Amino acid sequence: MREGNDRILIVDDDLEMGGLLSEVLQEEGFHVSTTGDSLEALSLLKREEFDLLITDLKMKGLKGLDLLEEAKRVAPTTPVIIITAFGTIESAIKAMKMGAYDYITKPFQMDELILTLRKALETRQLRKEVIRLRKEVESRYQFHQIIGKSPSMQKIYDLIERICDTPSNVLITGESGTGKELVAKAIHYNGIRKEGPFIAVNCAAIPEALLESELFGYKKGAFTDAKSDKKGLLFEANEGTLFLDEITEMPISLQAKLLRVIEEREVRPLGDTNSYSVDIRIISTSNRDIPTLIQQGRFREDLYYRLKVIDIEMPPLRDRREDIPLLVQHFIKKFNQEMKKNVSSISEEALRIFLNYSWPGNVRELENVIQRAITLSQREEIIPEDLPSALFLKEEESLFMKAFEKKFTLDQLEREYIKRVLIETGGNKSKAAEILGLDRKTLYRKLQEL
Ligand SMILES: Nc1ncnc2c1ncn2[C@@H]1O[C@H](COP(=O)(O)OP(=O)(O)OP(=O)(O)O)[C@@H](O)[C@H]1O
Ligand SMILES: [Mg+2]
Repeated sequence: MREGNDRILIVDDDLEMGGLLSEVLQEEGFHVSTTGDSLEALSLLKREEFDLLITDLKMKGLKGLDLLEEAKRVAPTTPVIIITAFGTIESAIKAMKMGAYDYITKPFQMDELILTLRKALETRQLRKEVIRLRKEVESRYQFHQIIGKSPSMQKIYDLIERICDTPSNVLITGESGTGKELVAKAIHYNGIRKEGPFIAVNCAAIPEALLESELFGYKKGAFTDAKSDKKGLLFEANEGTLFLDEITEMPISLQAKLLRVIEEREVRPLGDTNSYSVDIRIISTSNRDIPTLIQQGRFREDLYYRLKVIDIEMPPLRDRREDIPLLVQHFIKKFNQEMKKNVSSISEEALRIFLNYSWPGNVRELENVIQRAITLSQREEIIPEDLPSALFLKEEESLFMKAFEKKFTLDQLEREYIKRVLIETGGNKSKAAEILGLDRKTLYRKLQEL
């Protein structure tokens, strides 16, 4: 029986009464400790975990109400039942206000006490369960604003926890919109560097000519526009994290300089004769295939290995569809609040469309779709009419399914596929040829046959 595990502390300076209570409750299968001294009771509460505290209200030493107050502090989840011979409503109300679970006035029937006590224990059990579940939900479904319960996301949460306190460089790869930046921030703000700066540099957004001086800084007079000394971002990130977004867009000459910074832990600003030591952790991201770029001579292999001491690959959303409902709910809540609308859910039909779609733009695309839907929505739930047409290309409408249904020949399938690709590329024949793996001439020939 569950009672066997429940531990009850009885505090009553009327020892006879306490002893009697204890006997009865032990017969009922509870673990009971009894004391006549309220100060001792307090130290017991500090040392051990009790599932329930039963205390007299009128005692020598620490009075029942004071004990209640202290108990609420040291053991906030342990329910307290007050017993009082002077059943004035006033003190009982005061006790209830101070957080007592219930009170019982002497003289009472044992049955009455046991009933109240079981209810209190049940409430505690439920509350513990809720806390446990909430913790579990928090840890399983979400990690520092990263939503996802799929095994692949949970692996990423584990990895973040294991590496956030190390100084190792991290390379995060994955398709656009999979949450690379979110993960980079989670690593920084979870780790020992969280008090240090998080400096983000988008290597694709800063013009090549500027990137070097932005990163390294310069001495006054280093070049024509250098009117005064300027600290580079590599310094700004000292003792913190340097986030190099889209690292593959860094010019190859600068890659060599960055490699030197990593190897020597020193930075030399443009035009400076001195080098300065820095302590930075670099987290970089890429949505391109770096080994291919290395083969093409566009990315330095040695830098690659320096950057990916730890590598994290973000899974595309279509490979973890079980996260879609959670993300949908998360973004509905977010945009509903932001836009002060009254949308709280999604219809089953609309959710099915979400689950069937391939999400080439990953979580970012899903986020945008929800934002748009909430803007358009006239109701409390998102319905298919609120969704953009791109989402309606369902499995059944896919080219393959059509080919099966209509029993296409290979020639027919090829023609259909070429048409689709041309639609996809907006009629751009060079792009289409590239996707199809044809040279332009062959594509033209095929188009003429079409
Ligand atoms: N697991 C997730 N939970 C909640 N929000 C997410 C998740 N993944 C991505 N997002 C959201 O999607 C958007 C894109 O995420 P982020 O900028 O981190 O992607 P990215 O991988 O860096 O994309 P890109 O390669 O295009 O820069 C952000 O608004 C981010 O908050
Ligand atoms: Mg990004």
